[in-house]
Amino acid sequence: MADGLFTVDLDGTITFWNKGAERITGYTAEDVIGKNCDILEGDNCLGTNCVDGIRSCGLFEKGEVSNNECTIRTKDGHFVTLLKNARVLRDKNGNIIGGVENLTDITNLKRAQEEVRLLRRELRERHKFEGIIGKDARMQEVYNLIEDVAPTSASVLIFGESGTGKELVASALHFKSLRADGPFVKLNCAALSENLLESELFGHVRGAFTGAIRDKIGRFELANGGTLFLDEIGDISLNVQVKLLRALQEKVIERVGDIKPLHVDVRIIAATHQDLRQLMKEGTFRDDLYYRLKVVSLFLPPLSERKDDIPLLVEHFIQKFRQQTGKPVGGINPDALRTLMSYAWPGNIRELENAIEHAFVLAKSRIITPDLLPIEISPCPVCHATDSGTPSVTGTITRETLQSALAKAGWNKAKAARLLGVTRTTVWRNIKKYGLHENPSAEP
Ligand SMILES: Nc1ncnc2c1ncn2[C@@H]1O[C@H](COP(=O)(O)OP(=O)(O)OP(=O)(O)O)[C@@H](O)[C@H]1O
Ligand SMILES: [Mg+2]
Repeated sequence: MADGLFTVDLDGTITFWNKGAERITGYTAEDVIGKNCDILEGDNCLGTNCVDGIRSCGLFEKGEVSNNECTIRTKDGHFVTLLKNARVLRDKNGNIIGGVENLTDITNLKRAQEEVRLLRRELRERHKFEGIIGKDARMQEVYNLIEDVAPTSASVLIFGESGTGKELVASALHFKSLRADGPFVKLNCAALSENLLESELFGHVRGAFTGAIRDKIGRFELANGGTLFLDEIGDISLNVQVKLLRALQEKVIERVGDIKPLHVDVRIIAATHQDLRQLMKEGTFRDDLYYRLKVVSLFLPPLSERKDDIPLLVEHFIQKFRQQTGKPVGGINPDALRTLMSYAWPGNIRELENAIEHAFVLAKSRIITPDLLPIEISPCPVCHATDSGTPSVTGTITRETLQSALAKAGWNKAKAARLLGVTRTTVWRNIKKYGLHENPSAEP
């Protein structure tokens, strides 16, 4: 399709207007010839607003404009994105007498580019984002949210059970933000008494209380220009909540024992495993602070709700501990993986990480087998010692497995049943089935 072409005189008055320009802008030659080019309401001629007039856009000084992206408004009010090229026009003596501008409509191209960007983002199933592992759809949402919210200074409240990665997400938010070069300071609010928490947060001056033998700088001051991550925010007292609210709203703090307000520029990311709405109902958490903290909220799903991510996480932790320990463990066998997949993971990813670390400590070969996993994770530790592997919860136990369990349990059937992760009746039934006896010489 033909480009638009028009010329202007030294004042920016349009002197020529071709069919292409008519098609792109909706203005006919009749509409615009004799009018100023600011009729197009261009937003970016040479980095300046065309509405300010041709003299301010710099064309005449620079002599040309090449491939400049510019948005104009059509006669019926729509925005059109154009690629603009312009040159000055000179008379035969070399004096500038105006300009000629070429317009290429790239609205559709821009639209398509934006669409591709969004689709790519949707399609690109990310398995890893800033050290956070997970391909589950809800983790994809978490990644997108982090990407969108990190560059802003909005407070973020992260919800999630213990071990779901709240701290990891907080650090991703910081390191993807414009404050990434500033400090990332953490404080676990649950670990401290009310008074200690207050002085940790805001600092104190010497003599503020017994034991305050010197001035102390608080976490808010330490985090100045960066991010302060407040973990277990649900545990702070109402008194500290008031001070925190002031710090958030007015961006000022006072050291304990001091009256001089200090200005701080800190982005707050808070996390909790508690239901803050419930705490608000009970009157132990202030509504205003809640809403202040929760400008954006982010929920991390428990591992039990994204078990498909377990293999990926296992692989990640195997790599991590291989690097850390230098042990040449390189994989996990299917039985061990099955055991991990069928466990409930109340401690979430931290517990999974610990389980792999546990296996690394015990590992003698290159592969993680079920017997290397912590006892609480494997429902049937004795089965794991055998080649049959799979825990027998169905009541089918091999003769060797049963014999081994009985021997370990000193023929105490209840204990053997516990070791096997089956009921006592199953043990009895299988003893009978295989004709086992405590004294092996009596066996058939
Ligand atoms: N998605 C993940 N990918 C990789 N590692 C993870 C992931 N989530 C958590 N971890 C790891 O699990 C451990 C616990 O994570 P983190 O400390 O962020 O959890 P948390 O939600 O803050 O727990 P808590 O509530 O107990 O403080 C860390 O070692 C972290 O690196
Ligand atoms: Mg934490």
